[in-house]
Amino acid sequence: MNYSHAFHAGNFADLVKHAGLLAVLSRLQARGDRIRVVDTHGGRGLYDLSAPEARRSAEAERGVARLTEAAGAPAPIRVLREAVRALNGGPDARLYPGSPRLVADRLRSGDSLVVFEFNPREATALVAAVGGRAGVEVRGADGYEGAAGLMAGEGARLVLIDPPFERGDDYARSAGALRRILAARADATVMIWLPLKDLETFDAFLRDAEGCGDLLVAEVRLRPLRDPLRMNGCALVIAGAPPGLDSDLEDICRWTAETLGEGGTSRVWRLGC
Ligand SMILES: C[S@@+](CC[C@H](N)C(=O)[O-])C[C@H]1O[C@@H](n2cnc3c(N)ncnc32)[C@H](O)[C@@H]1O
Repeated sequence: MNYSHAFHAGNFADLVKHAGLLAVLSRLQARGDRIRVVDTHGGRGLYDLSAPEARRSAEAERGVARLTEAAGAPAPIRVLREAVRALNGGPDARLYPGSPRLVADRLRSGDSLVVFEFNPREATALVAAVGGRAGVEVRGADGYEGAAGLMAGEGARLVLIDPPFERGDDYARSAGALRRILAARADATVMIWLPLKDLETFDAFLRDAEGCGDLLVAEVRLRPLRDPLRMNGCALVIAGAPPGLDSDLEDICRWTAETLGEGGTSRVWRLGC
């Protein structure tokens, strides 16, 4: 329980995850239905990139700092860039929005957001970042266990599963949560973020998730996966992806691999159809 996302906020993997999250949310909202978003691992919602944790890791310098400079970025990346600019009131990205804040800023009347955050220190900061807004609820509970119970009722469902992956069982628990959510609500959209360190760990997760229907898989590799101790890339695995999301993710992953990678590659493909 020592994980703090403050060391990693605004890194390349956050850019992929958050640009992907905004793309899927906007495609689901465009259908017109009300939507309930469930964020199983919320973090603190808002990150100060001038704080010692962020400066020590310097991950944001190789991520969001490049985002604000980048010319010619594709549309889904520009949407995230605009969100960061709006938060900061200009191009200097001192603050970076976490997933609950990005979603909370886009809720329409009748939409809702339930965010789980297990760590009391992070949950307190999260309440400060998004608490008190109409339709937003923060729960200091286990998101793997709580998400499936929120699938009943009207409107669309979007679930983000974004664990720290510091514990070995985060892979199995993510696949288990995906199965329970889809059993409770077959038409839910579920987006799982995963680190890419070595191929066997990722393949084992995909084997575990196989059988959950048609999954869209988006991969960014910043470099070949030769050193399993480094985060060499990241992936999004999505069940119930809305039409058109494939091309958004292709744009996001290609831009990230080309702009932030060292000989990086990207791939968007389907598992299980
Ligand atoms: C990667 S961070 C989340 C970042 C956030 N989704 C974002 O994109 O801004 C993971 C968070 O999950 C929390 N966490 C770990 N296990 C949890 C669990 N079982 N249920 C809810 N939160 C958990 C950690 O305290 C940490 O703040």
